[in-house]
Amino acid sequence: MSEFKKPVIVLGPMLSESAYLISSLENVKERRSCGYTFYEGYIDGYPTVVCRCFIGVVNSAVAAALAAQLYSPLCIIIQGTSGAHDPELHQGDIVLGERLAELGSFITPRKGRGEGCGFFDRTVPEREVAGSAEPRNVTYLYGDSRITDIALSVPYSFGKVVKGTIGAADIWNRELDVIAHLHDTVGTSCEEMEGFGVAQVCRAADIPCADIRVISNSEWYPDEEFDQKYGEYCQMFVLEVIRRIIANGALL
Ligand code: 5AD
Repeated sequence: MSEFKKPVIVLGPMLSESAYLISSLENVKERRSCGYTFYEGYIDGYPTVVCRCFIGVVNSAVAAALAAQLYSPLCIIIQGTSGAHDPELHQGDIVLGERLAELGSFITPRKGRGEGCGFFDRTVPEREVAGSAEPRNVTYLYGDSRITDIALSVPYSFGKVVKGTIGAADIWNRELDVIAHLHDTVGTSCEEMEGFGVAQVCRAADIPCADIRVISNSEWYPDEEFDQKYGEYCQMFVLEVIRRIIANGALL
């Protein structure tokens, strides 16, 4: 791997969200760190590293932090499947994470035995993030707008491509009232289990970050059950985004 160029890092939680990208690398070498495997190779001659980071905010944040230490990357892209919060979105559509939210961090109202559950009356505290960037206390983090702009120019035939707010927590919501509440109050387009954690690491380490998600399921439509084939469509899209990041030179 070239010592002089900062590599592009791509994270994919599941095998179905990383295998296509790994197989697209030229001259692949494997490197292990703390149990995570980094596939080092090249795309169009530019150093690119793919990591199957496993599911969840902790896994993906650890993989991002290791990548930050090991490679001083040009950018980190977390990508994969997600569930729609916006009823306008359908399986196959791509959401570019303009804004990222954490959905697992909240305080419920105090209630006694038999007083029920107060999810809809919860408060969401700001979270203190590491690094020197201001503000230090945030509700949302933001994807790199240069990568979003590049991604908007990529042709895609399996659905539409939109900018949006992506929520993350180690939670798979299937209750439409909860999904609608998050969509209305947090403004989420979709939910997944990694984006905000990766963005937090990138913010701390001052690395451009992108979260690119395909809708693989929507509770708004009973026939839109999770299907892993969408993970491959997302990787095909992301491969073209990487090619354009390299060719465009905006981040170099
Ligand atoms: N809710 C949460 N995570 C989802 N994923 C796909 N759809 C959803 C959903 N509706 C993604 C997560 C995780 C894996 C379980 O699939 O990001 O990596």
